[in-house]
Amino acid sequence: MKKRDFLSLYDFSTKELNDILDLATNIKKRPNVYKSALAGKTIALIFEKPSLRTKATFEVGIMQMGGNVIYFSPNEFQLGRREAVSDVAKNLERWVDGIVCRTFGHNIIETLARNCSKPVINALTDLSHPCQGLADYFTIREHKHKLKGLKLAYVGDGNNVCHSLIYGAAKFGVEINIATPRGYEPKVEVLKNAYADAVSNGVNIELTDDPIAAVNNVDVVYTDVWTSMGQEAETAKRRQIFSPYQVNTRLMAFAKKDAVFMHCLPAHRGEEVTDEVIDSEQSIVFDQAENRLHVQKAILLYIFGIKKK
Ligand code: CP
Ligand code: NVA
Repeated sequence: MKKRDFLSLYDFSTKELNDILDLATNIKKRPNVYKSALAGKTIALIFEKPSLRTKATFEVGIMQMGGNVIYFSPNEFQLGRREAVSDVAKNLERWVDGIVCRTFGHNIIETLARNCSKPVINALTDLSHPCQGLADYFTIREHKHKLKGLKLAYVGDGNNVCHSLIYGAAKFGVEINIATPRGYEPKVEVLKNAYADAVSNGVNIELTDDPIAAVNNVDVVYTDVWTSMGQEAETAKRRQIFSPYQVNTRLMAFAKKDAVFMHCLPAHRGEEVTDEVIDSEQSIVFDQAENRLHVQKAILLYIFGIKKK
């Protein structure tokens, strides 16, 4: 059987993604049922950028299912600099059962996956953050009891998190409005890829530079940092350009009364979101963080082809 990677939500059908979400619901309800599902398996975690949530949730999730973890911190590994990415893959596959990798260029994780006989999971690249995106749709489904027909506004930088939210919206039939400054739109390649799924699910992907227009009457308002990991040199310039895109109570007032506020975290309070919004009743950011655990456990079981015990 061909091994399965988890590099992008785009690679999975709506049915497959719904199956993973259903499995995550079961895991969340009855974690003990899965406590030895990964017994005898060892997963390598390679992180070339900092992490709180992704590292913690993969380590805890794998341990809760009886598996083992080897963690490689940023700089320890130097994918492609100390050693060719393909050689790293061909070494690791001899020892471990799977790889979770956070890196810079998306081509690095694709090379890793192509050269490795064991499953590779994308734990964030410059292009996408599929574990985050899938956990976010799980969290929305928990709060709104459905996905199809909902409206989501993403306000800020057209970045990795935005790209995974676009792919998810197209797969799950969620209308998505994206408000970015000109020049910071999501990548055309992602919009093109998502288009066919959006059409077949009857939803639009709207781009605008007007945050109010994007947020008008939506069920979910989502934002992320203005400066992603690796872009630190642009921080001051971005602070200026993005300041009209702050999610504050004035902007939230244009969304539906029962709209939720989401952020993948880490948040830069006072920049892309105010304390008032992130600490409000509408904010579900810590549910998102918790659900990374349940959804990633489901992703692991799904790609390993492990059925419910
Ligand atoms: N949201 C997220 O991936 O957080 P970390 O960067 O802390 O892993
Ligand atoms: N866009 C952010 C997400 C962090 C989880 C970054 O890449 O730094």
